[in-house]
Amino acid sequence: MTHQVRAVVARGKGAPVSLETIVVPDPGPGEALVKIEACGVCHTDLHYREGGINDDFPFLLGHEAAGVVESVGEGVTDVAPGDFVILNWRAVCGQCRACLRGRPWYCFSTHNAKQKMTLTDGTELSPALGIGAFAEKTLVAAGQCTKVDRTASAAAAGLLGCGVMAGIGAAINTGNVGRGDSVAVIGCGGVGAAAIAGSNLAGAAKVIAVDIDDRKLETARKLGATHTVNSRDADAVEAIRELTGGFGADVVIEAVGRPETYQQAFYARDLAGTVVLVGVPTPEMKLELPLLDVFGRGGALKSSWYGDCLPSRDFPMLIDLYLQGRLDLDAFVTETIALDEVEKAFERMHHGDVLRSVVVL
Ligand SMILES: NC(=O)c1ccc[n+]([C@@H]2O[C@H](COP(=O)([O-])OP(=O)(O)OC[C@H]3O[C@@H](n4cnc5c(N)ncnc54)[C@H](O)[C@@H]3O)[C@@H](O)[C@H]2O)c1
Ligand SMILES: [Zn+2]
Ligand SMILES: [Zn+2]
Repeated sequence: MTHQVRAVVARGKGAPVSLETIVVPDPGPGEALVKIEACGVCHTDLHYREGGINDDFPFLLGHEAAGVVESVGEGVTDVAPGDFVILNWRAVCGQCRACLRGRPWYCFSTHNAKQKMTLTDGTELSPALGIGAFAEKTLVAAGQCTKVDRTASAAAAGLLGCGVMAGIGAAINTGNVGRGDSVAVIGCGGVGAAAIAGSNLAGAAKVIAVDIDDRKLETARKLGATHTVNSRDADAVEAIRELTGGFGADVVIEAVGRPETYQQAFYARDLAGTVVLVGVPTPEMKLELPLLDVFGRGGALKSSWYGDCLPSRDFPMLIDLYLQGRLDLDAFVTETIALDEVEKAFERMHHGDVLRSVVVL
């Protein structure tokens, strides 16, 4: 059997997205069909639409989602119809060299659904990050469904599926932020703001938010930033050093994805400190640093994919913290919108007006 549902499709490079009827197959072995309740609009969806990821148009966009499992295929035991789940793009394989070394959060061979979703004329769709959740229903690998507490709001919970997890994990998992640390976060959009919330959860004593937009610095404060720096008016490196006794922060998180902000992060950390790059650069960007400084300043230069998260470990834990009032996921939901308003949401994102617009179905 197949299901015909409404979904947001990007048909060609730079063209506005359109609302289409798509065909979703019943789940086969190892797959799950999920009824989507909410899906956040992430910068990566816009990258897809602009052809910045690859050329496999048409794309089925949307990947920060929560919903309810409608049916599962043969052999699926971890989730069952009726489960409230967050969709993830790291369904670990258990067999690649990272998994075998006991580091599944680096899994090099993650699972997606094997069957294809299509347009009504049979054209195969490429789901964003193997999910495709700006749709009434989507088909994923069962391992992409992480069951969490049903009492959480779907709009807030779904955000853990990508950007918010990436930011929290950049601080907690990759940056190893601990009690008493000083942290600076450069770029306070959805990802950077989440890194601030994560640093706060981990017990950081000082959390410095850096952005060029005062609106972002305001939300950063709400999420636990102790200091803010507008780097349009002030030198970010100088300001961070000044706020940390002249030394720099223990951990600096770059959440923009540009060489100049990476350079700021590099010089704004204390000796033996850690830089975490969670912002995603574009292919033409280059970085030049004196090798002696790379050596002489010691410490660690790390990148963070999806916050080095393990969904089965991290999503239920973060949802519990949210329900206890210790992690304000609702603060990331700037607005809720309908399925046919994704194009407008891209526009608002482009102007920096939102942390997240969330499609609610
Ligand atoms: N590593 C991952 O797994 C992962 C996951 C999701 C998103 N991302 C990436 O993280 C980055 C941030 O995503 P987002 O959703 O928060 O985007 P966003 O557009 O909401 O936020 C970017 C922020 O950076 C600020 N900014 C821009 N230029 C700046 C500068 N020179 N100095 C200081 N601040 C500056 C903007 O004002 C904005 O607040 C993007 O590159 C995105 O692709 C990475
Ligand atoms: Zn693996
Ligand atoms: Zn994303």
